[in-house]
Amino acid sequence: MLRTWSAVYNVGIDDIDHQHQGFFAAAHRLYDDILEREGKNAVEDAMAFMRNYAEEHFQTEEAFMRKHEYPGLKEHLMLHAGFFRRLDELENDLMMFGPSQALADRALDITQDWLIDHIADEDMLYSLHVKAKGVTDLRAI
Ligand SMILES: [Fe+2]
Repeated sequence: MLRTWSAVYNVGIDDIDHQHQGFFAAAHRLYDDILEREGKNAVEDAMAFMRNYAEEHFQTEEAFMRKHEYPGLKEHLMLHAGFFRRLDELENDLMMFGPSQALADRALDITQDWLIDHIADEDMLYSLHVKAKGVTDLRAI
């Protein structure tokens, strides 16, 4: 199910909250382009856009966690790597079977729904960590 961005997803670090909204938009674009079906190039473009967006976003988060010596960094890096593994599997299946409603639903599950859970379960933790340290300059970029 397509969801709308909600303020409850904010972690309170503006740069990261903006990127999360962009990640959401990239997930929706991928879903829509898979459902368009006729446009193989559109699917490839949306997939590449999603991948590049995620790479850039994860780099921002990882640099932020390193800067603030977040103790859960190693585990967090593994979760980011897991995201790309599932995206790779989806891309393989799209190439093998072609776009379908089932693959569009799976795309939404591994991008939009993954992000919502990841924010609540993981990103909130580094946000709490920096706030507990009393950091007031919360720029991530
Ligand atoms: Fe993250």
